[in-house]
Amino acid sequence: MKRLEGRKILLGVSGSIAAYKAAFFVRLLRKEGADVQVIMTPSATQFVSPLTFSVLSKRKTLFEYVSEDGAEWNNHVELGLWADLMIIAPASAHTISGMASGRAGNLLLASYLSARCPVMIAPAMDLDMYRHDATQSNLRILKKRGHLLLEAEHGELASGLIGEGRLAEPENLLEAVLTFFNPELPLRGKKAIVTAGPTIEAIDPVRYISNFSSGKMGFELAKALKEQGAEVVLIKGPTALEAPAGPDEIIEVRTAVEMYEAARKAFADADIFIGAAAVADFRPKKVEKKKIKKDGSPAVIELEENPDIIASLARQKKAGQWIIGFALESHNGTENAKEKIRKKGLDIIVLNSLEDKGAGFQSDSNKITIIDKENNLTKFELKPKREVAADIVQYLIKYIHA
Ligand code: CTP
Repeated sequence: MKRLEGRKILLGVSGSIAAYKAAFFVRLLRKEGADVQVIMTPSATQFVSPLTFSVLSKRKTLFEYVSEDGAEWNNHVELGLWADLMIIAPASAHTISGMASGRAGNLLLASYLSARCPVMIAPAMDLDMYRHDATQSNLRILKKRGHLLLEAEHGELASGLIGEGRLAEPENLLEAVLTFFNPELPLRGKKAIVTAGPTIEAIDPVRYISNFSSGKMGFELAKALKEQGAEVVLIKGPTALEAPAGPDEIIEVRTAVEMYEAARKAFADADIFIGAAAVADFRPKKVEKKKIKKDGSPAVIELEENPDIIASLARQKKAGQWIIGFALESHNGTENAKEKIRKKGLDIIVLNSLEDKGAGFQSDSNKITIIDKENNLTKFELKPKREVAADIVQYLIKYIHA
């Protein structure tokens, strides 16, 4: 889901080396479906070409009151009324001062004065300029006016000095915009890891052991978590289906051991883990370096056990971390699922039965029963996996907040 579909954003870019980051920011906003109009100050055009922003925003970048050929008037009043949100990023000391004192010396400042929408300011400048009394008192004025200040970040500055003054990273700017438009999302601030798809375990350079998992359920869960505001890391095995757009990070793995390593690292600072992957329980003990020839084929392939990813994470689990597993069962579903919660140390298990038509692997739909460690059992109808994912995430949200 594009989370800024239909949102109109006026992005003011002022003269700072950080103007290049605004180009990335425009891309992120566009990817989320926002309509972005860029206005640059004349000095910003010395850092990044207006053409860059025109191409990325798919709207002509404006930087003068009158168009270059002198035939068109860039109406700042209209721009100011058009936008749902105006963001000044990067906001230089000069532009901040112009905004605070109400000067209208360029199109960006005039548009600011004409804007009736909320305003966000993301400063970028050298650290001494940033902490100077003059700048700080201008920022106080702007904050008092009700504008949202996205504090500059700490780090190395263009001058070589280290300190506060870096423009907030484009991803953080995007996050602030998303929060602005959807402040109430229940998983905002939570990090969720989802595993999806099968793992494959090589026998020789061309053959492997795997399973029929399509990855669909995990992909839908990643989307559903994202829609509820979570930061999502998707760890996926090889699938024919393309991974969905939306996760903050996608880690591609092949084997169970690789999935385990990726999950372990990502889980360290995560709040939620959902194991939707069909992890191969066993791998060949020996991976042949050369393709096994027909005449030399082994009668038996010796297997060894893979790590149980979810059980291992559950053993490391701290307070405030939740683990959700799946159980695909062919018989005695409820008993087996309850046993799996206990054995693996899960909070919640999602049971699907191979006996249900239209459920499970490779299907677009699923029929699930959710069981939690307190033994509450909730049955759901057969539904498209997108809706099943939404049910699981809703259950999780209630469980976390119970
Ligand atoms: N799982 C895992 N690591 C494994 C095997 C399974 O993390 N090596 C996770 C799956 O992602 C799923 C849950 O454990 O969330 C249950 O998977 P399932 O295959 O049903 O359980 P198994 O432990 O493999 O039990 P069995 O095959 O005996 O039913």
